[in-house]
Amino acid sequence: MIRMKTIYLIGFMGSGKSTIGTYVEKTYNKSFVDTDSFIEKTYNKKIPVIFKEEGENQFRQYEIEALKTLKNYGVVATGGGIVERELNYQTMHENGIVIYLQTSFKHILKRLEHDASRPLWKQDIKERKALFDRRHELYVAFAKEVLSTDTKSIEEISREIIELAGEE
Ligand code: S3P
Repeated sequence: MIRMKTIYLIGFMGSGKSTIGTYVEKTYNKSFVDTDSFIEKTYNKKIPVIFKEEGENQFRQYEIEALKTLKNYGVVATGGGIVERELNYQTMHENGIVIYLQTSFKHILKRLEHDASRPLWKQDIKERKALFDRRHELYVAFAKEVLSTDTKSIEEISREIIELAGEE
């Protein structure tokens, strides 16, 4: 049986990777997994606890391993820092298509206004913006396709993802 390529969703925290992945799973009958949830289940710890007890570097190692393990899914929503390790580029490109969900800083700020669950979001606005700008460059470098999300509905974004993946 020919297996469709895996769709990897990359992008900043709050860009909607998990929401979109869940919608695509339901609507287009694709299997879906989220690397953050997978890591939390595997190590039986919430992400902020992993950061606190084991450090960011160890978390990045868990991400590398998770990505290598989760190769048979239709859609994989990745953590915002997946682009921090170059090895992940190879893992994703060998196995599928990488799509950057590009959301403006303004929208991210609004969406994560009350968020306390993301360790790297707990810094002042200047540092958040610097992270956002640095990451944007990395997402563009990692992605095969860039999909801007600001003015689109979940339905529209999901349809575009399916179209992009179908053209592969
Ligand atoms: C991170 C993003 C988070 C999570 C962790 C680190 C990052 O995932 O993996 O808090 O470095 O950008 P989301 O992008 O799903 O929020």
